Amino acid sequence: MKIALGSDHAGFRLKEQVGSHLEAAGHSWQDFGVFSEESADYPDLAAAVTSAVQSGACGYGILICGTGIGMSIAANKKAGIRAALCGEPYSARCAREHNNANILTMGSRVIGPGLALAIVDQFLNSSFSGGRHSNRLHKIEQMET
Ligand code: RB5
Repeated sequence: MKIALGSDHAGFRLKEQVGSHLEAAGHSWQDFGVFSEESADYPDLAAAVTSAVQSGACGYGILICGTGIGMSIAANKKAGIRAALCGEPYSARCAREHNNANILTMGSRVIGPGLALAIVDQFLNSSFSGGRHSNRLHKIEQMET
């Protein structure tokens, strides 16, 4: 499953590290930018990555900004997007198992690269549990209309 990767300027360096990590692990992934530390508006990158997930071109997205907050707020404006801001692996596992999150957001000014890569691995290696959680996600879908 292809992974869409994006960041603003604050997340650029961590995005590069995440990209190298995905590459080394053999994942299929696409970098939607940014491509430097020049100032950028995080909603623009959130729009690009969420469009790739909404269209099905990518199964998951990873968005990084300074705190991860702006990216999660912006990404969750899009229908069908379930973006989860995670600061440790337990939340990343629950985001997949309980919330069927399709976007992981992280804050490069909050966590270091070692923890970030562990969060990415946990997110990508966890699956939606279904069951009682499906009904709750259906209620979220209804809130989109
Ligand atoms: C950029 O300075 C910063 O506001 C942004 O990366 C992010 O933290 C917003 O939520």
